[in-house]
Amino acid sequence: MTVVASPSDPAPIGLGIAGLGMAGAVMVQAAAAHSGYTLRAAADPHPAPRAAFARDFNVNAYDDIAALCADPTVEVVYIATPHQFHAAHAILAAEHGKHIILEKPMALRLADCDAIIAAAERNTVHLIVGHTHSFDPAIHVMWLMISCGALGRLGMIHSFNYTNFLYRPRRPEELDTARGGGILFNQVPHQIDIVRLLGGGLVRSVRAQTTVLDPARPTEGSCAALLQFENGAAASLVYSGYDYFDSDEWHFNISERGAPKTLDHGAARRALMKIADEARARTETFAYGSSQPGLPPHQPHFGITIATCEKAELRATADGLMQYDQWGAHKINIERQSGIPGRHQVLDEMGRTLRHGMRATHDGHWGKATLEVVLAIEESAAEGREIVLKHQLKVPVEETTPSENEGEVR
Ligand SMILES: NC(=O)c1ccc[n+]([C@@H]2O[C@H](COP(=O)([O-])OP(=O)(O)OC[C@H]3O[C@@H](n4cnc5c(N)ncnc54)[C@H](O)[C@@H]3O)[C@@H](O)[C@H]2O)c1
Repeated sequence: MTVVASPSDPAPIGLGIAGLGMAGAVMVQAAAAHSGYTLRAAADPHPAPRAAFARDFNVNAYDDIAALCADPTVEVVYIATPHQFHAAHAILAAEHGKHIILEKPMALRLADCDAIIAAAERNTVHLIVGHTHSFDPAIHVMWLMISCGALGRLGMIHSFNYTNFLYRPRRPEELDTARGGGILFNQVPHQIDIVRLLGGGLVRSVRAQTTVLDPARPTEGSCAALLQFENGAAASLVYSGYDYFDSDEWHFNISERGAPKTLDHGAARRALMKIADEARARTETFAYGSSQPGLPPHQPHFGITIATCEKAELRATADGLMQYDQWGAHKINIERQSGIPGRHQVLDEMGRTLRHGMRATHDGHWGKATLEVVLAIEESAAEGREIVLKHQLKVPVEETTPSENEGEVR
């Protein structure tokens, strides 16, 4: 498919959703609220979410992703199937000439990332890897403030998040690291993408330690990693999914998606004890049509993110940023507008690339570089040594257009 840069082309982009589970359901909500997109079709092997989607949008919902990829009304396929299918599904979409938004992690191996990139190039289709929380409006504004140089040199970034991740209902492969299970492939990519964006993209080396504390859920549930950037900055990543402490307590009691939250430590563990068929609960609880959370009133976040620069420190907050400097603490509000922040920016990035010929930040090479850090964390933890990286890339300088959804920064 040939991409024609046409700034005046107002035609909404025809979107197809592959995988109507938890991520697919959120993207459906985001696309339905985005004026630049029209939902054209979906695919999922499960009949209930398919029926709900076909009913809500009066379009085809296929039981097979190949049929979705062959649908001529679909221009972009958003792939939100389980990790282990990402490579095969992305290549299938590319071979059908569809542009691709591929969920994180891009794949489970670097060779699979290469195969996806090659398929996209061969078929001249665009590829965006997201959503990760580096698309969040607060992170984007933080990046603009750091990269413009006004705050002086970036010294370090701190990202930490304590959640109930490991005790949400899971399928067997989600508790098996070799098949992409645990926090490394599912959660830590958000942190890596955030610090890679803020740090300029070029991670030099990684030293990490991971832990498997629950033999009944034998995959990584926590991780501490130190990333060193080529530019001299450092980033520390700390993640725990053990459902004890909840770092949203330190984020104004606002949930990851930006909704007010009542803390309930250990609730996910207690709920899991009452579930007879965990894999079934996993598939059914969040599938499209089973629940539809309202639009969150605050900004999304992924734990606590703090950047230390020569002249100030920045912290992402519930409604924007705080800047701390020698003159005190200053609030930088980001107006909450329509749609689903984070996902909206993913759709924007594809739209800018597809309709306006702009270079994407979160392209296949970016997704591969983030996976390289995931694999380096795993290797460093296993071997007890620093791992030097080879596939990192700089944040492209062209990506300076704030999303319309980011609102006014005050
Ligand atoms: N960016 C985010 O914040 C975010 C949040 C959740 C999940 N995700 C990512 O999205 C992906 C899916 O995760 P999830 O939590 O939504 O899982 P899920 O199990 O809730 O949904 C996956 C869906 O894919 C469907 N599926 C399986 N095989 C398929 C096939 N061959 N064709 C079409 N559909 C198929 C399943 O039936 C299911 O409905 C994962 O890679 C995960 O990392 C990202």
